Amino acid sequence: MTASAPIAMLAELTHRCPLACGYCSNPMELDRRDQELDTATWARVFQEAEALGVLQLHLSGGEPAARGDLAELLRSAAAAGLYTNLITSAVGLSRDRLQALAAAGLDHVQLSVQHIDEESADGIAGYRGAMARKLAFARWVVDLGLPLTLNVVLHRANIGVAEDLVRLAATLGARRIELAHAQYYGWALANRNALMPSRAEVDQTREAVGRLRNELKGRLVIDYVPPDYFGRYPKPCTNGWGRQSLNVTPKGLVLPCHAAETIPDLEFWNVRDRSLADIWNASPAFQAFRGEEWMREPCRSCERRSADFGGCRCQALALTGDARNADPVCHLSPHRDVVDQALAGRADAPLRMLGRPLTRSLAS
Ligand code: SF4
Ligand code: FES
Repeated sequence: MTASAPIAMLAELTHRCPLACGYCSNPMELDRRDQELDTATWARVFQEAEALGVLQLHLSGGEPAARGDLAELLRSAAAAGLYTNLITSAVGLSRDRLQALAAAGLDHVQLSVQHIDEESADGIAGYRGAMARKLAFARWVVDLGLPLTLNVVLHRANIGVAEDLVRLAATLGARRIELAHAQYYGWALANRNALMPSRAEVDQTREAVGRLRNELKGRLVIDYVPPDYFGRYPKPCTNGWGRQSLNVTPKGLVLPCHAAETIPDLEFWNVRDRSLADIWNASPAFQAFRGEEWMREPCRSCERRSADFGGCRCQALALTGDARNADPVCHLSPHRDVVDQALAGRADAPLRMLGRPLTRSLAS
């Protein structure tokens, strides 16, 4: 199966992070600091990404500021001609350091925010003082003239303040806010009962988003990613496996999506051994679910298969035991009952969340 060019690359620079969010999208087994790619290898990967067709580079983690060479990495990404977006918790970034990143070529900042109330926000992040730092950081970003997006992962502990978070984004001068319900893989799957909101809360949020979009039109873009468990059809995860984007892990594995390592028997190639083009075009992991050949019924003959690509392979694996099955969120899936059971089994009392391990060493 031949591949079109990717548009975006997520560079997970490190799994080190000062926070311990219970919905973290990092794998359960984190790459160690001594396994991370060095500065020169990342610079080569950025050049190869641009040559392959990538336009946008998302620098993420863990916390990308844990890399002491972040400014140097940004300089090489900018020199390669990539549009750079830093996805950060703000912890570890002073005003001077942010200014140095801007001078190195940073184009856009996405800042994660956990709650409107400081104590609740710090509790969700597992870091005292995190919210105060985030608010100061957001103001520096806007002062420096960089476009700012607030990222909010929605779950039962903050869904009630979604509207307040949108208003906070507008007050801070952000250009965009992304309200995305937690996706249940890895840490979030382990914490699913503690994270999942009720249907009534989801409906209220959807209504509020519609109203706020009208009210703040021209001032703030509001992107809303609904929770797929409540839908009839799955999300077109990553816009199709190996179609538009790729992830590079801290130790250099190239993945079609952030959770792909949960699928057993997939063979991932490493940028230390091969060029990015070779990996994108020919690696077994990218070929595994590219196109439609791999599909089973009901997806194989479904008219929506080129719109949602059968949903999410990692969710199919996690909930049905086989990544080739239709995403069980789909009401046509013979496994939809596992999603209905999860919804029915949702406890009403707040539950304690399991946080990902703390990896607070920010020095590099
Ligand atoms: Fe999508 Fe498959 Fe469901 Fe059709 S059957 S809507 S392709 S998941
Ligand atoms: Fe892997 Fe959806 S997260 S395909």
